[in-house]
Amino acid sequence: MVEDFMNCFKFNTEIIPDRLSLINIQKKSFESFQEYARRWRSEAKKVQPPMDESELMKYFIRSQKGVYFEKTMSTLGQKFADCVKMGNFIEEAINSRKIKSANNSSKSTQLESIEGAKEENEEEIFRIGTYGDLQVPPEGAKQKIEFRVKKVLSVGTVDAAKYPLPKTKLTLELLRDFVHFRSRTNTISAIARIRSALAYATHTFFQNHGFLYIHTPIITTSDCEGAGEMFQVTSLLSEAEKLEKELKENPAPSEADINAAEQLAKEKVFLTVSGQLQGETYACALSKVYTFGPTFRAEKSHTSRHLAEFWMVEPEIAFVDIQENMNYAEAYVKFLCQWLLYRCLDDVEFITNSIDNNALSRLRMVASSNFQRITYTDTIKILEGAAKVKKFENKLTEEHFKAPVIVYNYPKGIKAFYMKVNEDKKTVAAMDLLVPKVGELIGGSQREEDYEVLRSRMLDLGLPLEPYEWYLDLRRHGTVKHCGFGLGFERMILFATGIENIWDVIPFPRYPDRADL
Ligand code: 4AD
Ligand code: MG
Repeated sequence: MVEDFMNCFKFNTEIIPDRLSLINIQKKSFESFQEYARRWRSEAKKVQPPMDESELMKYFIRSQKGVYFEKTMSTLGQKFADCVKMGNFIEEAINSRKIKSANNSSKSTQLESIEGAKEENEEEIFRIGTYGDLQVPPEGAKQKIEFRVKKVLSVGTVDAAKYPLPKTKLTLELLRDFVHFRSRTNTISAIARIRSALAYATHTFFQNHGFLYIHTPIITTSDCEGAGEMFQVTSLLSEAEKLEKELKENPAPSEADINAAEQLAKEKVFLTVSGQLQGETYACALSKVYTFGPTFRAEKSHTSRHLAEFWMVEPEIAFVDIQENMNYAEAYVKFLCQWLLYRCLDDVEFITNSIDNNALSRLRMVASSNFQRITYTDTIKILEGAAKVKKFENKLTEEHFKAPVIVYNYPKGIKAFYMKVNEDKKTVAAMDLLVPKVGELIGGSQREEDYEVLRSRMLDLGLPLEPYEWYLDLRRHGTVKHCGFGLGFERMILFATGIENIWDVIPFPRYPDRADL
């Protein structure tokens, strides 16, 4: 087990992890806490600066409904070195009789206090809301540990009669009309924790691999995908209102006012569809960068996989080709899955029990499987008859390969202008990573680094050159092979949770006609 445990941290330092045997660090049975403490300690080989005691205590006793000891342990399993500390801590807790065997089963509930619990620590009570002790539940109880409350601090009241949400089971559809309250439900809060964990994992992965985090702009003049599906940003309306007001108070506008208004009308700026083009400027200077931020699409896609505002993770890497780009994409997605399995098991299990029976097994499968790689031309052979895109993706990932698939070398006619034209002159070095349940999770490519080829491709596609002159400059003045990809962050959460609609995995969804709050 120690080896497995160490392995799961090793992949941080390698691009492609060895096949990891996923271990289930939850213990299905254990004789005693002493035994448990001993095992944690004996399994730890290295002691690094451990969490401090109060931090540990917080993990240990923080919970709204009581502490589920085993799961707390698996949360703590995130840091190997913490094993030692945890082992010591459990032992100390046992010795000081904070943990003791239950002898009064009739009174045992998850939120009851036990005799002898300390009362003096008001500050702690205030911080965590409840204060109590841990104890072994009576025989036959479902839970393995109980948190018996000594004191509950009332922090505010709610008038049940006026509370806007009914007490009955709430559907995700209904909750969309209560965006400001839905974070109070178990499902939405589990999703929020999974989302946060995935963001943390994203930064960890790229930072561990030497990437620099770049903030690319939200307001831009460049249409990255060249598809014209952008939200335009303008201050013209408020300017017009100002002008009108001024005209009323001061009838004749000056020439400068008129010039300013005309100038404004000429400028066209948009909300970005992708940070890629700007990311390329830094990758071509600093080698490996990534950006992670909101992106916007004005297409009227009213589907369960599209948002008008979504978050995208976009690495951009100099000196690599399309195959190496795929290596990064595969390693990153596996890392995200492994991270959730080790850091967020509680929430994944909750989601598996309440939303999608396959969520946990899907994560395990993707974390440990080798992604298939197949050219677009070969997929067409496999997919005869699967006309619709969704069907196409499902057929490949769920039926044919039963694993994630990277489709590459697409016909150039259906892909963006910046993708590298292959030697056959018909296809581009594009790649889409498809996963079960969701379909396209990642879109990426090798970038065309040849000035002439890029320019003629833009002309062929009817794109105006002027707004892209700076992008062409990157090829004119020192060009280098480079690649990148974009992972749709909400699609990743859909994949991890099995939630059906993308509107439910972003805190404040924006889609045609909806922008609540
Ligand atoms: O395939 P896309 O359009 O690729 C790009 O934007 C490239 N510039 C990325 C790059 O190479 N740096 O988008 C990337 C991913 C898709 O695979 C999908 O997961 C997600 O972003 N995505 C959306 N997610 C939610 N709502 C939408 N409207 C989305 N459009 C794309
Ligand atoms: Mg795409």
